[in-house]
Amino acid sequence: MKAAVVTALGEPPGYADVPEPQASGKDEAVVDVLAAALSPRVRSQAAGSHYTSTGELPLVPGIDGVGRLPDGGLVYFLLPDTARGAMAERVAIDLRRAVRLPSRSDPVAVAAAMNPVMASWVALRRRAGFRRGQRVLVLGATGSAGRAAVQVSRRLGAGAVTAVGCGTARVPGLTRLGATRVVDLGGDREALGRQLADAGRDVDVVLDFLWGEPTRDALSAIVPNRARDEQLLTWIQIGSAAGLESSVPSAALRAVNLRLIGSGQGSVGPRAYRKEVEVLARELRKGAFRTPTRTVPLRDVEAAWADTGSAERIVVVPG
Ligand SMILES: NC(=O)c1ccc[n+]([C@@H]2O[C@H](COP(=O)([O-])OP(=O)(O)OC[C@H]3O[C@@H](n4cnc5c(N)ncnc54)[C@H](OP(=O)(O)O)[C@@H]3O)[C@@H](O)[C@H]2O)c1
Repeated sequence: MKAAVVTALGEPPGYADVPEPQASGKDEAVVDVLAAALSPRVRSQAAGSHYTSTGELPLVPGIDGVGRLPDGGLVYFLLPDTARGAMAERVAIDLRRAVRLPSRSDPVAVAAAMNPVMASWVALRRRAGFRRGQRVLVLGATGSAGRAAVQVSRRLGAGAVTAVGCGTARVPGLTRLGATRVVDLGGDREALGRQLADAGRDVDVVLDFLWGEPTRDALSAIVPNRARDEQLLTWIQIGSAAGLESSVPSAALRAVNLRLIGSGQGSVGPRAYRKEVEVLARELRKGAFRTPTRTVPLRDVEAAWADTGSAERIVVVPG
């Protein structure tokens, strides 16, 4: 069968033949893959740079997707850390990490949205102790997960959502998704500091998709300007689009009631993820969240890999 195949870490996958997958044991099944998303997580898997990478080659990338079971049912599946990923005509899945989708679910829409929507959905519901009416700031709101975070925050009842991101062309559009305030990271540095300080005065939760310098700068602007130092500020590290490392001023953790945590595989267990995926599958079926999407045939996967500038989530479709 055909698959996307990485033969050197960091190089794009080619379209090549691989052996048919085999299900082993009663908890596995082979599904026909209908859609598999090309997310930053998949790029880091293929580059061998994700913290769960084993470095095994050749590697078929793809950490999740939508497939058709032998009985005809549709499932959304998550894969363990494996060299036999979702970007193939067929893949063996662990049924304990798969969720049956409601009838008439759109495979491409689910594959495109599940990972970016889940990022903030799980962070708010499983890590933040978030309550309706609380104020959220999304740091890195222009990507798929950031735009989803604006919508998820509103869907879960946020009282206000500040969307912080780069790009005069994209940032203003975030109000259409539910942001009550937008801040462009690309603006004048002093003005940006003032805007962040003001936006952060009474925020309860920061959903951070950037890390790196933007996080350091945002913390430096927000911490000294809190309206009430003892008000809990939960800062959730979710993504690292701007850098894997960031410096946190030591005083920040003493001067205000700052709780710095993360959300992802590991800090949230597989059972909790599965439960949230079930809920989200129903939300997606209702069309709750907008995720701009572009489908690419599996045979064109190499060209799709080169497209890193698109605001659309690429979904690879076999067949
Ligand atoms: N922990 C989880 O559960 C989870 C789940 C999903 C995603 N994530 C992580 O969250 C991050 C975002 O994912 P995504 O799916 O939204 O990716 P994406 O669609 O590729 O978006 C990334 C965004 O970050 C922006 N960006 C990059 N560097 C920046 C900088 N220095 N300052 C401001 N903006 C910057 C990009 O802007 P440009 O287009 O202008 O470069 C783009 O809008 C990734 O690190 C991903 O791995 C984590």
